[in-house]
Parts: sequence; structure tokens; C-alpha cells
Amino acid sequence: MSFLSISNVVAGYGSGQDILKGISLDVEAGRTYCIIGPNGAGKSTLLKVISGLLTPREGSVHFDGEDITGLPTHRILRRGLCFVPQDQSLFPDMSVLENLRMGGFVLRDKGDVNRRIHEVYETFPILAEKASQPARALSGGQQQTLALGRTLVLRPKLIMLDEPSLGLAPKISRQIFESIAALREAGLTVLIVEQNAKLGLQAADWGVVLDLGKEHIVDSAANILDDPRVAELYLGGGLKSNGKDGTT
Ligand SMILES: Nc1ncnc2c1ncn2[C@@H]1O[C@H](COP(=O)(O)OP(=O)(O)O)[C@@H](O)[C@H]1O
Ligand SMILES: [Mg+2]
Repeated sequence: MSFLSISNVVAGYGSGQDILKGISLDVEAGRTYCIIGPNGAGKSTLLKVISGLLTPREGSVHFDGEDITGLPTHRILRRGLCFVPQDQSLFPDMSVLENLRMGGFVLRDKGDVNRRIHEVYETFPILAEKASQPARALSGGQQQTLALGRTLVLRPKLIMLDEPSLGLAPKISRQIFESIAALREAGLTVLIVEQNAKLGLQAADWGVVLDLGKEHIVDSAANILDDPRVAELYLGGGLKSNGKDGTT
């Protein structure tokens, strides 16, 4: 079985209609996957199901050899699967270092937390430079890097990012994707949902096009970038830059 395996997942909210309509996806360890698709396709819903925030109506999620379907989020987190949601918010008045410590608040051994924070500084030296500054003093891209770093304190095996470039200027988005490339080099498995399809696919090994609650195309990121259907739908105009996807 693959590292993360999603089988025939059906999910929705409350008593509403199915949003995910039998989606399956196999994720290989150490690879980066970029999930693209139109607004409302169910991309965020899929990440919520994997991270335990939403229990699926049908189907299963296996991670690292275990069935994690419907487990509470904190137990999934402890197994090394971390989710950085779309509306990730920092503590603006707390320093960079204090924000990183918050990332490790579930860990009992505070010495261990400090060691892990130093590992994060090695991956993202900018955070060491700004350690004593309040989070609100950082640029948008640096704040996203801090949000990533805070999650890395938990030493995840797999990290999921929901639209990490949302609302950021193109130049800063590229910086975020450089940070994501660093995670990939560190051997992490990464799942990114990204509305800037081109930027996201360029950073990924594999691409997934999600549409109408199903996996529509799964292929190497390079093939998806070259796919004329995808180019027309997602790379041409609508999803090329920030600004169109402001609702979810
Ligand atoms: N908390 C919620 N309660 C009810 N419906 C929701 C909720 N979150 C999302 N939805 C609905 O689920 C569908 C898919 O949303 P979402 O997964 O956020 O799409 P995407 O991330 O691909 O834009 C949308 O129709 C949205 O309105
Ligand atoms: Mg979304």
C-alpha cells in the first residue's frame, strides 16, 4: 500500500449533498503532489478529510500503514500528518520564536522543542534572523514561511498546504515555493492545493486535477503542464494569477 492512500472517499457537510464523490488517490513517500481544479471542486474538503477535520461518509484513508479514517485530528497529527489550512493565522503580536514554540505546544519535552526550532532555522534562516521580531512585522511571504516552520516543529512525515500563495504578490509566491522546494529536499512528502496551477505544478513531481469531487487527471506534473486540456482550463487565463479565487 502507498504511503497515503485515499480510497473511494465520499464526503460532504452536515446533511448536505456529497462534495467528494468517490475520490481515490495514492501518494508515494518523499514526493510532492500539486492538486489543482476549479473553485468549489472539493480540494479543501479533501485535505479536511485526510487531516481528520471531516469524517467521510464512505471510503477510507490509510497513512503510513494504518487506517486513519475518521480519527480525531490530534491523533492524525501525532502520526506525522500535518495540515496547514488556507486561513492559517499566526499570533501577530508574539515573536517569531514564540510562534514557533506554539507549534510545539503538544510536545512535553521543551528541550526537544528547542532542538526542533533550531532545525527549522537551518531550513529557513530568515526565521532565525527575525526570531525576536513580532510576526506582524514580517512580510507576507515571511509570514507564510513562519506558518510552514511552525508546522515543521512537529517533524511531520507528510505536510499538506492549502493555497499557500493565496493573496500574495507573484514574487512572494515564488519565495514560498522555494521554501516548499526545501521541504522536498528534506525528504518530506508534500501535498499542495494551489490555484496558481503553473507555479504549483512546477514545484511538484505529480499533479492531480480535481473536478466535480473526483480525481479527473493524475499524471506527472510535467505531463499535466503540457496537457492541452489543462492548459486551456487552468493555465491559460483564469487560474494563472492570484485574484480570481478569493472565496474559499
Ligand atoms: N463548512 C462547509 N459547510 C458547507 N459547505 C461547505 C463547507 N466548506 C465547503 N463547502 C462547500 O463544498 C464545496 C467544495 O468546497 P471546497 O472544498 O472548499 O472547494 P475548493 O477548495 O476546491 O475551492 C463548495 O460547494 C463549498 O461551498
Ligand atoms: Mg479551497
